[in-house]
Amino acid sequence: MPEELPVSKIIRNRRTVKPAIMDSQLEVPRELIDELFENANWAPTHGFTEPWRFKVFTGEARHELALQLQKLYTGHTPEDQFRQDKLDKLGRNPLLAPVVIAICMRRGDNPKIPVVEEVEAVACAVQNMHLTASAAGLGAFWSSPPVLDTEGMRNFLGLRDEDCCLGLFYLGWLREGEKWPESIRQPVSEKVEWM
Ligand SMILES: Cc1cc2nc3c(=O)[nH]c(=O)nc-3n(C[C@H](O)[C@H](O)[C@H](O)COP(=O)(O)O)c2cc1C
Repeated sequence: MPEELPVSKIIRNRRTVKPAIMDSQLEVPRELIDELFENANWAPTHGFTEPWRFKVFTGEARHELALQLQKLYTGHTPEDQFRQDKLDKLGRNPLLAPVVIAICMRRGDNPKIPVVEEVEAVACAVQNMHLTASAAGLGAFWSSPPVLDTEGMRNFLGLRDEDCCLGLFYLGWLREGEKWPESIRQPVSEKVEWM
């Protein structure tokens, strides 16, 4: 086995890049976004339900998304938990990233496949997208504000009751001068037991 497989390098270099350091003005080529989706589409899927669905927000549509997120946060947050900084961030983030993708799960019609497996398949698809983005030097951030699992969000995205939005995936190039972030993990040896 070579010292480090090419895929290992890509996996370990995958980072969460927050919209705050993205260049909102620098366009992400359509071909690259399509490549992300093509790779997402090759995620494993129990029973071939292929439950991943993506709704893409660019340009003016990001403003509508921002307004909707703020409306839902205001409407769903108990008064004692309301935080102005969270409300501001929900309004700001979609405008800081040139592309925002709503990650959706469309429940398949095979009752033998548990919902959790549909969610797992979508997570695999997102990982494929995230790895592809990182390999291209494109920043990406999977965000999961609590307002996603609401009727208002489902209506906004045109989802059915049995479907759900699992996150917002922000995409953008890093602004000039910003560095590719670092991350940490506890040793994997603590998480593996050979039985
Ligand atoms: C399902 C899922 C949801 C996430 N939601 C959030 C979120 O709402 N806010 C956030 O700051 N990070 C979120 N993250 C990203 C993590 O914060 C990030 O993966 C972690 O900080 C490790 O950084 P790395 O991805 O660069 O290794 C989410 C990640 C996953 C897998």
